[in-house]
Amino acid sequence: MFELTFSTIYLLLPAYLANMAPVIAGRLGFWSRLNTPLDNNKTFFGQPIFGPGKTWRGLLIGCIASILMAGLQAMLYQLGWVRSLSPVNFLQVNWFVFGLLAGLGALAGDILKSFAKRQLHIASGQPWPVFDQLDFLAGTVLATWWLFPWHANRLWIAIIITLIVHPLSNVVGYLLKIKKVWW
Ligand code: CTP
Ligand code: MG
Repeated sequence: MFELTFSTIYLLLPAYLANMAPVIAGRLGFWSRLNTPLDNNKTFFGQPIFGPGKTWRGLLIGCIASILMAGLQAMLYQLGWVRSLSPVNFLQVNWFVFGLLAGLGALAGDILKSFAKRQLHIASGQPWPVFDQLDFLAGTVLATWWLFPWHANRLWIAIIITLIVHPLSNVVGYLLKIKKVWW
């Protein structure tokens, strides 16, 4: 149980980073030229497609963060104890492919959730409990499904951990003034 929990957190590190990086980039204000909305401020059935919270900068920086994390994990894979912990076999799975898919999956999940929020008339930045927490996890799981065994136990652990870690990291981000809202 402990090992499963630990290895699942390790597995999800690239996805967690992909989800956090856009917020940090926004706070630090870099690459402001890329700070343009993915949906070009266009609407769909009278609502913003994704809303102003989904930008090219976020998408790009999230993917880069995830790929870098996967690269680090592939390097650490040479250590025996890391190898026994890592669900991804980096001798068979290319770290770049894993990082890109985990990151893109996470961000795509987040973007699709925003689309659903807008169609349900939930304004950009307003909370949508559970969906706000699990959007990126769902995207990552789907995108990496074929790279290694995502069995039911690991999925449940991933959901529970994310439901705990996501709100916690939001509160920390809020206290550090990285995030504007505590949710
Ligand atoms: N962000 C971004 N690009 C993305 C995802 C996130 O620039 N693809 C940044 C935005 O500054 C956003 C912040 O990260 O405001 C927080 O992300 P999130 O909570 O996912 O977006 P919200 O602003 O809450 O919008 P939504 O209601 O659509 O979830
Ligand atoms: Mg939000």
